[in-house]
Amino acid sequence: MKRIVVTGAAGQVGTELVPALRAAFGNAAVLATDIRRPHGGVLLDGPFETVDCMNGQAVAAAVLRHRADTIYHLAALLSASAERSPQLAYQVNMGTLVNVLEVARDAGCAVFTPSSIGAFGPTTPRDPAPQDALQRPTTMYGVTKVAGELLCDYYFARYDVDTRGLRYPGLISHVAPPGGGTTDYAVHIFHDALEHGHYTCFLRADTQLDMMYMPDAIRASIEVMEADPARLRHRNAFNVTAMQFTPAVLAAEIAKHSAGFRIEYDVDPVRQRIADSWPRRLDDSAAREEWGWQPQYDLATMTADMLQQLREKAAALMGAATEKRG
Ligand SMILES: NC(=O)c1ccc[n+]([C@@H]2O[C@H](COP(=O)([O-])OP(=O)(O)OC[C@H]3O[C@@H](n4cnc5c(N)ncnc54)[C@H](O)[C@@H]3O)[C@@H](O)[C@H]2O)c1
Repeated sequence: MKRIVVTGAAGQVGTELVPALRAAFGNAAVLATDIRRPHGGVLLDGPFETVDCMNGQAVAAAVLRHRADTIYHLAALLSASAERSPQLAYQVNMGTLVNVLEVARDAGCAVFTPSSIGAFGPTTPRDPAPQDALQRPTTMYGVTKVAGELLCDYYFARYDVDTRGLRYPGLISHVAPPGGGTTDYAVHIFHDALEHGHYTCFLRADTQLDMMYMPDAIRASIEVMEADPARLRHRNAFNVTAMQFTPAVLAAEIAKHSAGFRIEYDVDPVRQRIADSWPRRLDDSAAREEWGWQPQYDLATMTADMLQQLREKAAALMGAATEKRG
């Protein structure tokens, strides 16, 4: 029986990972934690505790109370937020990870930690970025992601903690809002397309980045932790990808479903600089070979599903509002 603690569970990834883990391993087996308590929603359908991962004792207490054998550590500051507050980002991203790894060492837990395309920098080959590549990121987010990958590998080699991770590309989801990353435009654009018929993008039209639809990211996160350890030559962290596009290409795909949709550009130099330092495409052959990674969604199927899900949600909200008035 697996017993899992998820940190940073109230964010974009956790809001969908927790229900998926509960569906796979049972509601009571998955303790969701975050520094903030959600006001309702799926996380409260099972056990939830408020835990600040900067406090190692609080992490240890939650893991021991829950008798956890696995920790999914999602608490972090994302790329754009980290560039606004680099010192805080260093403290949060490194401090929480060290605490989680120490608790895992004491309690004998496996640890999943996401890395990111942000762990690469301008000197990494960009198309594609290999699994084993030069990693000299120029953002504080990237610095913490590379250091995090190394720290997780160190805990595996030195203390036999079963650490595994993925370098997520930009994640697209219709459930929870994105938390301050450079690829957030690829979520905002869908909402604005449906609400306003146009979107003003903070990245240049030709900025190609790696992306993935959230159902694929959630499945990858669970599959890598369930993979046969004997087959793993890599651990922290696997390149995974599903699709690559620019804002202009995504806008053209949305326009196929939403006639008259327009995109304009008002480039934010900070986020553009971050995006320009990242790869245009990842080589995820190691994930495919070592644990059978295979994405299910491409640009066309992701776009169609995003629009359908958001339209259904809007219709349900309209229906509920009409019922309330009546
Ligand atoms: N979303 C993406 O596109 C993306 C891409 C690459 C990597 N990642 C990585 O995936 C992980 C999860 O990302 P996300 O998109 O869900 O982020 P998010 O910002 O949506 O959520 C992070 C959560 O961490 C919580 N948190 C922050 N400080 C905390 C602390 N001290 N203790 C406990 N909780 C704390 C926040 O309240 C928030 O709910 C992060 O490591 C991120 O770097 C995400």
